[in-house]
Amino acid sequence: MMKLWLPLLFAVWLSAVCGRDNNQKRPNIIFVLADDYGFNDIGYHGSQIFTPNLDKLASDGVKLENYYVQPICTPTRSQLMSGRYQIHTGLQHAIIWPEQPNGLPLDSPTMADKMKEAGYATHMVGKWHLGFYKDEYLPWNRGFDSYFGYLTGSENYNNHKRTFMDGKWYLDLCDQDGPAHNESGHYSGHLFTEKAIDVVQAHDPSKPLFMYLAYQSVHSPLQVPKPYERKYKHIKDRNRRKYAGMVSVLDEGVGNLTQALKDKGLWDNTILVFSTDNGGQVYEGGNNFPLRGWKASLWEGGFHGVGFVSGGRLPVSGVVNRELIHVSDWFPTLVGLAQGSLNGTKPLDGVDQWDTISQGAPSKRTVLLHNIDPLHPRVGVPLYNDTFDTTVRAAVRVGHMKLITGNPSNGSWVPPPGESQALKFVSDRRTSPGKNVWLFNITADPTEHHDLSDQMPDMVRTLLGYLQRFNETAVPVRYPPYDPRSNPALRGGVWGPWE
Ligand SMILES: *[C@@H]1O[C@H](CO)[C@@H](O)[C@H](O)[C@H]1NC(C)=O
Ligand SMILES: *[C@@H]1O[C@H](CO)[C@@H](O)[C@H](O)[C@H]1NC(C)=O
Ligand SMILES: *[C@@H]1O[C@H](CO)[C@@H](O)[C@H](O)[C@H]1NC(C)=O
Ligand SMILES: *[C@@H]1O[C@H](CO)[C@@H](O)[C@H](O)[C@H]1NC(C)=O
Ligand SMILES: *[C@@H]1O[C@H](CO)[C@@H](O)[C@H](O)[C@H]1NC(C)=O
Ligand SMILES: *[C@@H]1O[C@H](CO)[C@@H](O)[C@H](O)[C@H]1NC(C)=O
Ligand SMILES: *[C@@H]1O[C@H](CO)[C@@H](O)[C@H](O)[C@H]1NC(C)=O
Repeated sequence: MMKLWLPLLFAVWLSAVCGRDNNQKRPNIIFVLADDYGFNDIGYHGSQIFTPNLDKLASDGVKLENYYVQPICTPTRSQLMSGRYQIHTGLQHAIIWPEQPNGLPLDSPTMADKMKEAGYATHMVGKWHLGFYKDEYLPWNRGFDSYFGYLTGSENYNNHKRTFMDGKWYLDLCDQDGPAHNESGHYSGHLFTEKAIDVVQAHDPSKPLFMYLAYQSVHSPLQVPKPYERKYKHIKDRNRRKYAGMVSVLDEGVGNLTQALKDKGLWDNTILVFSTDNGGQVYEGGNNFPLRGWKASLWEGGFHGVGFVSGGRLPVSGVVNRELIHVSDWFPTLVGLAQGSLNGTKPLDGVDQWDTISQGAPSKRTVLLHNIDPLHPRVGVPLYNDTFDTTVRAAVRVGHMKLITGNPSNGSWVPPPGESQALKFVSDRRTSPGKNVWLFNITADPTEHHDLSDQMPDMVRTLLGYLQRFNETAVPVRYPPYDPRSNPALRGGVWGPWE
């Protein structure tokens, strides 16, 4: 009797498993990263800039309103691709400069490696900025089947050239087969959108798709085709007007990409994540008001980011999520969504946030190390001798509370230029020049107006203890001097590997 039953049971089990697989086809995952896009530069945050496509996607999905990135480019990208804090990759200090022999360490797989291992087609378009001095660091050797974009951190939007330290300009635009010499005059907001759409159109739908589209928009230099700037004639400030036009290209590009996914029949099975890499640069048209500070600072304006999740595969819509989520969380979250494995990575600092995003479950993250940068110029004297040295630039979030030490950079509140008389610029007045400790309850005071460090000395000591313990796990900083062999003049006038 048993002998007859076993094959039958097996057949029933098989059909159940296959049936589930059909319904639970793994989603396409599209990650769109904007560059230097400020908190006050998206329509749904009350911006003067129009972003109808981004607003629609966000309101159809989940807006992340307690979402954090890092204060500058390489750090955010390194954490996105590795799931690990900078203190664990050696990238604590600054960006990777084009002339530096440096890169995201090869000792742990990237998100793309993991997606590829899970059977995804993996493609990247846009800005890399995670090192390129050796072949091993190039995107197509770090998990991407294909790549089109630029390797350094910023360049001209039209001729795609970037200066070497001698002030001469060299091409930085390539794919895995070599430099792209013929795209001069093709504005990168359009070029990268078209390349991303090419990926979608060429995609074989029998495989799930992972695409990382890292726009140049809206980083400096302020360059934009005239028709986009003309929409903002009413903005008198030149930088803000050009920047607003640049945001409109970005918004239109994401709209076009979404349409291409729909036309290809992929949208219903797609999860799209949109994120900035850091706060807006107020000297280049960006804005983070009412948050304090801007790009490159440890104030909320530096890294309280714009972000949302959308796509036809998202089970919820119209949600505003206020759980603590960090850019390092995407690694386990998205690899988990792809049913990939997290084996072989160095210990991750990110946590899987899918239940938080898709069901509103409480975040598994209560602690967030913003950074510890031992190379940043120190300020003042240490508050205590037996715990973390407060002259060092660092910041940590524990629950509601945020502690900043060292020099967090300019902490003024800067409203968008000329928008309204009601919004006043408020300068960062340091009570003493050597001040190096601030404590805020970010939940109660997200704009950092009320420093609690004098009122809550025990809380300060507790959070210093967190920094102290994080610091014990830090690896040495990788920040090598410029290498003259990086000169693109030595290699046909094109930026690329030199070792
Ligand atoms: C540049 O060359 C590539 C590869 O040959 C081609 O696909 C692309 O369309 C060309 N672009 C322009 C603007 O001609
Ligand atoms: C979006 O598509 C429209 C219609 O094809 C095109 O005119 C526009 O230039 C595209 N925008 C971007 C940013 O690629
Ligand atoms: C992780 O597991 C997969 C599948 O089990 C295997 O193919 C891969 O080699 C493993 N990766 C590492 C880095 O151990
Ligand atoms: C720390 O040590 C220095 C040198 O020993 C001493 O002068 C200073 O008072 C100490 N500071 C505190 C806060 O204990
Ligand atoms: C962090 O740890 C390093 C290595 O143990 C130590 O030299 C340094 O003083 C610590 N930094 C702070 C700010 O406590
Ligand atoms: C901070 O930035 C504001 C705005 O640019 C500027 O007016 C102010 O002088 C700066 N403060 C310091 C201390 O640099
Ligand atoms: C921080 O503010 C929140 C919201 O007002 C409050 O619930 C919480 O108790 C505060 N935490 C501390 C430690 O003061």
